[in-house]
Amino acid sequence: MTMVAENETTAAPGTIPAPSVKPPMAMLAELTHRCPLACPYCSNPLEMTAIKSELKTEEWAEAFKQAAAIGVLQIHLSGGEPASRRDLEELITAARDADLYTNLITSGIGLTEKRLAALDERGLDHVQLSLQGVTAESADEIGGYKGGFDRKMAVAGWVEKQGIPLTLNAVVHRRNMDRLEETIALAQQLGARRIEVATVQFHGWAAANRAALMPTQDQALRAREIVNEARERLKGELVIDYVPADHHAKYPKPCMGGWGSTGLNITPDGTVLPCHAAQTIKGLNFDRFPEKSLRDIWYDGDAFNAFRGFDWMQEPCRSCDRRGKDFGGCRCQAMAIANDPYATDPVCSKSPFHAELVAAAEADSHADASELTYRVSPR
Ligand code: SF4
Ligand code: FES
Repeated sequence: MTMVAENETTAAPGTIPAPSVKPPMAMLAELTHRCPLACPYCSNPLEMTAIKSELKTEEWAEAFKQAAAIGVLQIHLSGGEPASRRDLEELITAARDADLYTNLITSGIGLTEKRLAALDERGLDHVQLSLQGVTAESADEIGGYKGGFDRKMAVAGWVEKQGIPLTLNAVVHRRNMDRLEETIALAQQLGARRIEVATVQFHGWAAANRAALMPTQDQALRAREIVNEARERLKGELVIDYVPADHHAKYPKPCMGGWGSTGLNITPDGTVLPCHAAQTIKGLNFDRFPEKSLRDIWYDGDAFNAFRGFDWMQEPCRSCDRRGKDFGGCRCQAMAIANDPYATDPVCSKSPFHAELVAAAEADSHADASELTYRVSPR
């Protein structure tokens, strides 16, 4: 998950003090890497956690308590598919007991009407339901799961019946971007209060599907127009969050709102990460919960301190007047493309790798889109 927060203003080079470490606001708990779906754009890592290594119910409950104690307000229960955990009900209770706002990020598969009612009873605050397409045929092809679309439509109905606020998560890419207007209309029809339209990001499994999923520049431009028009038309009715394609931007987004500044992720085996793709950065040491407390990891962990502040930056970021706004962009993208996590995010037009990135995106967007590499689930 990419958290984008434009929480700093632009200032002249050399005038921005390094920010002090503030408490985290949100925690993403990847309860399991198991998932009935096999989306080719999955951002889970290539090496996934086996069932036997997943944190136990009591360990997650302790993590929720510690997270709340250091300032976390919201917990996003994700995966894989969090409903694959038989103890999801207990985990919701544990999170609510810790006074956390609970958001379930789900494909819907594994939820029944009865189970959803039980989650509601235990205090589930919000549901984010993923959407792979606007028809059963297109959605089930991308999700690699027959019957998935129909099940999601049923789940959305149960969520509405329980009165739980619903957000639809629509990952858009070359194969479904031309149906964005229908996607937004479906969100309205399902009674969603919010839709997150996120252009695919090529981390984890998604990297293998760049050529099949990279949107064209025309699609990206059209998508922005559609979003702008729909935002105006649906003001007060549906909130539309939009994460545009990186590759067509002039400047990068402040990935995670700045490294180690707003949130933390815990993987199924308790590894604590500053962002979901951080393990792709070679040379970082990641701590594990419960071996270390979340407080120690957040404030003193090597990985969390690796890219805080501005001292780690190289030129052109080091003297750039946007460094307090985008924090040099995404470290994982710098690693993937420049092979250097300290480099300027190649999405930035000032990066020496920018032209290469744009050319590769352009070539990918016109490549053969027939082959998809589906994600596999761990055992
Ligand atoms: Fe942001 Fe660095 Fe580019 Fe400046 S040079 S806009 S700080 S990524
Ligand atoms: Fe952007 Fe890791 S995904 S910093």
